[in-house]
Amino acid sequence: MYCVRNVTEDLYWVGANDHRLALFENAYPIPRGVSYNAYLLLDKKTVLFDTVDWSGCRQLLENTEHLLGGRTLDYVVVNHLEPDHAASLEEILIRWPNVTIISNEKAFMFMRQFGFHIDSHELVQVEEGDTFSFGKHTVTFVFAPMVHWPEVMMTFDTTNGALFSADAFGTFGALDGKLFADEVNFDRDWLDDARRYLTNIVGKYGPHIQLALKKAGGILDQIKFICPLHGPVWRKDLMYFINKYDTWSRYVPEEKGVLIVYASMYGNTESAAQALASRLCERGMTNVAVYDVSSTDVSQLISESFKYSHIVLASVTYNLGIYPAMHNYLMDMKALNVQNRTVAIIENGTWAAESGDLMQKFLNEEMKNMTVLNERVTMASSLSADKEPELEALVTAILDSMN
Ligand code: FEO
Repeated sequence: MYCVRNVTEDLYWVGANDHRLALFENAYPIPRGVSYNAYLLLDKKTVLFDTVDWSGCRQLLENTEHLLGGRTLDYVVVNHLEPDHAASLEEILIRWPNVTIISNEKAFMFMRQFGFHIDSHELVQVEEGDTFSFGKHTVTFVFAPMVHWPEVMMTFDTTNGALFSADAFGTFGALDGKLFADEVNFDRDWLDDARRYLTNIVGKYGPHIQLALKKAGGILDQIKFICPLHGPVWRKDLMYFINKYDTWSRYVPEEKGVLIVYASMYGNTESAAQALASRLCERGMTNVAVYDVSSTDVSQLISESFKYSHIVLASVTYNLGIYPAMHNYLMDMKALNVQNRTVAIIENGTWAAESGDLMQKFLNEEMKNMTVLNERVTMASSLSADKEPELEALVTAILDSMN
């Protein structure tokens, strides 16, 4: 059965939702599913903006055929060639053998690499700033390399103000009927997944996002719709989400607060993490989040690391090193460019507490602009009562560093 939504006038969402995929990119849990967005413009010419993951291909075809109502598909614009959007391209080419593909040089190269049979089709290779008319609608192409692959471009419809933004402004989460961000409580129900998506998928490429935002800034007053490849379409309060992207891609904390991530084998380091959390709350800092590194997906920890101003790493020593799950989290933070945070350390070791020095070395030498507080808490097996002054000193240091 077709399942489409009207975006505006002659523009339609023709994508697909996926609740069956457990791991996005075979890496990131998506308990709320994901949407693969594609859009169909019914102008004098008919234009499909991107396709969908292979799992949504049948839905895309049904949606497109329904709206075309017997017309042919004239153009497909490929803004991003990653298979979660382009896997169905070959099927579009088979179904509409006269369709013209509009994309850029790098994307055409990737299409051939992925084995798409594009060379029997007319190809329109565009450059940054080129324009193209489909009848009433004229579009212009804005290149956005590394947001999230090098071939990524955005297409801006200067007639209706729709920005087809590729992965930018996307989020995990299936739409389940609700196409527009103003049809959901985005701040309450979607923001965490949006942050988790952005920070894990393109967190590394903050400067490239900043470049794309700068380009978008030049046409900001003309943008009426942001149509991403995942998640809701934005038609109201666009600056809310643009500002979030700006914050995340500049690596500045979204909120003043404390993220406590602990690695605990038998509950003693966990107990210290909880003691710290309760003392922070007692002293008025209630924006505190506590996670067990062993049972929390690292993508969630990365998202929270982008959110909070302060991070506390509490880790046991393991094989005279950092506990493996904590080490993995640190490696991911480095890979995704987490920076500009204040960090406190709690270490534990029954006979040789080494994890503190090792975490500090990693933060100082492997990451950028991480301020490590001097007030470290060192535990031998468990947090004994005589450690109360150390714990209080750590609380005070964290609170003082927030001012
Ligand atoms: Fe949603 Fe970079 O693909």
